[in-house]
Amino acid sequence: MTSNAGARRFRRGYIRVKKIFLTGLCFLIFAFSSCQGKNADSANGGEAGGNAVNSDGLIVVGFSQVGAESDWRMANTKSMRETFTEAKGYRLIFRDAQQKQENQIAAIRSFISQKVTYIVLAPVTEDGWDTVLKEAKDAGIPVIVVDRMIKTQDNSLYTCWIGADFRKEGGTAVAWMEKNFGTDRRLIIAHLQGSLGSSAQIGRTEGLQAGIDKNIGWRVAVRDSGDFTQVKGKEVTERILKQYERIDVLYCENDNMAFGAIEAMDAARWTYGVNGATTIISFDATRAGLEATLEGKINYNVECNPLHGPRVEEIIRQMERGEIPSKLAYVDEIAFDAKTITRADIDARSY
Ligand code: AHR
Repeated sequence: MTSNAGARRFRRGYIRVKKIFLTGLCFLIFAFSSCQGKNADSANGGEAGGNAVNSDGLIVVGFSQVGAESDWRMANTKSMRETFTEAKGYRLIFRDAQQKQENQIAAIRSFISQKVTYIVLAPVTEDGWDTVLKEAKDAGIPVIVVDRMIKTQDNSLYTCWIGADFRKEGGTAVAWMEKNFGTDRRLIIAHLQGSLGSSAQIGRTEGLQAGIDKNIGWRVAVRDSGDFTQVKGKEVTERILKQYERIDVLYCENDNMAFGAIEAMDAARWTYGVNGATTIISFDATRAGLEATLEGKINYNVECNPLHGPRVEEIIRQMERGEIPSKLAYVDEIAFDAKTITRADIDARSY
C-alpha cells in the first residue's frame, strides 16, 4: 500500500465520522428547540402540550385571550379552561395577550403553524384583523370570535361570533338614569371609559351618548379611559376629583374601574352611592361588583356575562356534526339596582 492510498483511506474515515457527528448534533439541536417551544407555550398558559396536531383524537383549540385586566376577564378565562379539558376531548392552547393586539396576531399565527382544529379569538379591539384572519382562512382553520366583536368587510373571515350586546347594556343604564333623574334635570356626568376601540367601550359609550343627545340637561363634564383596570380607574378618578366640585353620575364602563373610583373617592372623602352625592353606574355585575351594589356603593350594575366556555363548546359541537352555527349570537343579560338587590342574587352568582 502506497502512502497516498493510506492517506485517502484515512480521509474517508475522517469524513464518515464527521458526518455521524454532525447528524447527531443536528438531532440534539432539533430536540432542544422543540423542548424550548413547549416550555414557551406552557409559560403562556399551561395547556400547550407540544404538537397540537389532532393525532391523539383531541380537538385542539387555540384561544387568544385579551388579558387578565378585570374580574370579568378572569371569570371568562376560567370558563374556557374548565370547558376545554382533555377529559372532555380537547387540548386547549391558551395565550394571554396582555391587552396588546400584536400579541394576539402572533398567537393566531402560532396556532396556524401548530395546525389547531379551531381558533377562538377574544379580540382586544375591533379593527385590524383582516390580514391574520385571511391567513387562518387560507389554512382552513375556523375562527370563532367571542366576547368583543371585530370589524371587517369580509364576513367569511370568521365563522361566527358570540357575546354581549354592549350598546344595549349602555341603553339599559341610560334608561335607569332617566327613570331616577328625569330627562330635563341638569346632570353632570363623569365618564370612565374602558379600553378604547374595544366593542365593550364602543357600545357602552354609544349607549350613554344616545342618552346625552336626547336629554338636554345631561352633560359629560369629563371623559377618560381607565383601560378596564382598577389601578387606572383609580388614577383617572383621582384626577377628576381634583378638577371638579360636583359630579352627579360616575358612569364606569366596568366593575374594576368602579372599584378603583371608590378607592379614590374614599381617600378624598367624597360621598357616593345610595347615600352620597355621586351616583355610580357600573357594568359586569361580577360577584364583587354585586357585593358593592348590595352595600349601596354602586347604585346600578348592568350585567355582562363572561361564561362563554360552554357556549363556544356548543358551537364546536355543532361544527363537528357538520352543522353551520348562527353567525351572530347575543347573550341575555339583566341589571341590578342597589335598592332591590338581595343576598340571594349574589349567592346565585358563580363569578
Ligand atoms: O369585553 C368585556 C369587558 O372586558 C368587560 O366588561 C370588562 O370587565 C373586560 O375587561
